[in-house]
Amino acid sequence: PVRSEVILKVNGKEYTVDKSLDPATSLNEFLRDKRISMGTKYMCKEGGCGVCVVMAASVNPSTNDIERKAINSNYTCMCPVFMCDGWSITTVEGLGSQRDGLHPIQDRLDKYNGSQCGFCSPAQIMNMYALLLNDTKPSKQEIEDAYDGILCRCTGYRSILDAMKSFADSKCSPTDIEDLETKTCRKTGKPCPGKCSNPATPKPERPLHLVLDSAQWFKPTTLTQLYDLLNQYKEKDMRLV
Ligand code: FES
Ligand code: FES
Repeated sequence: PVRSEVILKVNGKEYTVDKSLDPATSLNEFLRDKRISMGTKYMCKEGGCGVCVVMAASVNPSTNDIERKAINSNYTCMCPVFMCDGWSITTVEGLGSQRDGLHPIQDRLDKYNGSQCGFCSPAQIMNMYALLLNDTKPSKQEIEDAYDGILCRCTGYRSILDAMKSFADSKCSPTDIEDLETKTCRKTGKPCPGKCSNPATPKPERPLHLVLDSAQWFKPTTLTQLYDLLNQYKEKDMRLV
């Protein structure tokens, strides 16, 4: 049967978009006009500034693998919201906040003074989030390359890149910080010497994979597949939403 609407998730919450919406509506317009994510910004609306980046997880129809990408949600010509059927979108609000606790990437950008006016910060953060989801040990060069499409109008590139490259510097992955209860490094099991670039923070950190890339939620999934998925994510601090 032909469906007349698309269903997508944003930060774990499901939204249905029906044909009453202008078919030219971009994902960015949808996120902002519906007040779903005001943290997702826009500027050029031409795919040139990268300030509208969010992370999108979807299932590759040919391999059935979950793909997680940083996408420019306002590429109006490339990403109308009607293209996003079955996608699981994560925006900066899905990672953390001052009230609920900062995500490690937000925290790092803050500590390196990488947020000047802050307008581009959500995109810088979501870009790194997508990169780390795909590769927990990117090199400094890979990180720099991943940032060639996001402009900072305050031109504070050095502090932004320093913050993001600190993830490459660390001997630990961003999720391997000190366990605040046992006071040991989660990776080595030894007391944290406090010399790595991932020192324990005063507040409990939110897990890196706060929102499961639940792109499979809309697909028929057998119980066995579901348990496999859960086991796979268990180790990575993911949770099914
Ligand atoms: Fe500039 Fe999306 S607003 S790339
Ligand atoms: Fe102002 Fe980047 S911090 S635009």
